[in-house]
Amino acid sequence: MHTTDVLIIGGGLAALMTALKLVEDKKVTIITKGVKESGNSWKAQGGIAAALNRNDSSDLHEMDTLQAGCYINNRKIVHILVQEGPERLHHWMRKGLSFDRDQTGKMIFGQEGAHTKRRIIHAGGDQTGKKTMEFFMNALNNRVELIENLTAVDLITDHNSCIGASFMNDKGEITTIYAQQTVLATGGIGGLFLETSNECDLVGDGIAMAYRAGANVRHLEYIQFHPTLIFSQGRTVGLASEALRGEGAVIVNQEGLPVMKGIHPLGDLAPRDIVARTLYKRIQEGERLYLDITPVDLFSRRFPQITALCKQGGIDWKNGRIPICPGAHFHMGGIETNEHGQTKVPGLFAVGEAACNGVHGANRLASNSLLEAIVFGERAGESILRNELHPNNFRSLKRLHSSYAHPMQLPLKEEIRQRVSDALGVVRNEQKLTGFITWLNKYGVCKWIDQTRSARNREDIETENMMITAYLTAQSALSNKQSCGAHYIEEVKGTNNDEQTFAETTVG
Ligand code: SIN
Repeated sequence: MHTTDVLIIGGGLAALMTALKLVEDKKVTIITKGVKESGNSWKAQGGIAAALNRNDSSDLHEMDTLQAGCYINNRKIVHILVQEGPERLHHWMRKGLSFDRDQTGKMIFGQEGAHTKRRIIHAGGDQTGKKTMEFFMNALNNRVELIENLTAVDLITDHNSCIGASFMNDKGEITTIYAQQTVLATGGIGGLFLETSNECDLVGDGIAMAYRAGANVRHLEYIQFHPTLIFSQGRTVGLASEALRGEGAVIVNQEGLPVMKGIHPLGDLAPRDIVARTLYKRIQEGERLYLDITPVDLFSRRFPQITALCKQGGIDWKNGRIPICPGAHFHMGGIETNEHGQTKVPGLFAVGEAACNGVHGANRLASNSLLEAIVFGERAGESILRNELHPNNFRSLKRLHSSYAHPMQLPLKEEIRQRVSDALGVVRNEQKLTGFITWLNKYGVCKWIDQTRSARNREDIETENMMITAYLTAQSALSNKQSCGAHYIEEVKGTNNDEQTFAETTVG
């Protein structure tokens, strides 16, 4: 029997931060679906937002976070983020975590959308995610048991507490790992969409598993679309960071005319939901859009990752234009947690993008996600350390893998992505959402939520998770009639980013 103290499912930044708090005292096991260097954290470009500059303050950062989030953020949690963020970063900087500095040794602060101050610290130009992950992987220094290439099948519960999870390898064999505490760090849901900055296997596995185990999920309809994914030959090839616009790049149409002029006082650096919606509408009207990067100094040196992505997409950035379109980027919603990462299910935590503690509201402020991973990843670790571990009687468990038959063959992932993109994209309407839910229900998705799985192979598990998460998300979107932030329903004239709104949608 495989047992551990703390089981962490997912291996991104939030997972590492939780693990680092625990490794001195506990046996920690991290399971990743792919290889350990894959995942969104590795790809993060812009940087980490924190009030570290002398002309800045946590209060201003808090104000910007709330404004971008349309004030439906959980204020207590936002306060924790902006207050603890700088302290926790300073701690790691003292231990060697480094960020780009100018020739005089001063930290360089970048600018991104909806920030009233330059406060984005970055590493390796636009390789903040990679550099940060390398640093924390080194800090862990093999002190965790790390197992790659295992797909989580289900959480295991006993008397409504989580006591571990089952996993499948690529031969279809099931392994069960029992744990005193289980942490879901499974990332976002960009992989549900055709166009995304995310790894395509990030499809909301954690949301599907947590919901099946009795946790609440929350704010699922708030999905952030990044306005500037690099577009090449009919598909997107990755992200062109908002930091580019912070350095002067401008969104233009095929005639070279600025697209964001007159739309919002912050122009190209307006909140992401507003920019994404504007670009989406222009593209629908037949325009082709570009980032004009000619104002950006030393483009390839400052943005090596974007330079490489352009090369990969066959785009000659030297002519000063990068073709762009919006794509799914970040999930503000997720598994409901408190400020310690605890879910409603005893023994189950969630951290990072998989979790929803309300910090981002309806639209995340740029570069707040790595900060969130650090602050709330560590807080979850601290909470686990403080908790008395509840004794488990592993032998008394019933197996969860009795099978049920699928009513019919599962659809192909590409079809799901097509339908999700259509129903849950930048602009939504009730008719499309209802049609999508009806299509999912032809497969009986609403029944899968309470049933045990057939778990025939990893592909099926992932497809089932995609459909369950898409179903829950579409239900959330349908039940929230108020356009707000990243949730935009075309029939309803709503508040978007102009007014305060306190809409709440929790599924649980
Ligand atoms: C970007 O670099 O534009 C993305 C950063 C973020 O999503 O916060």
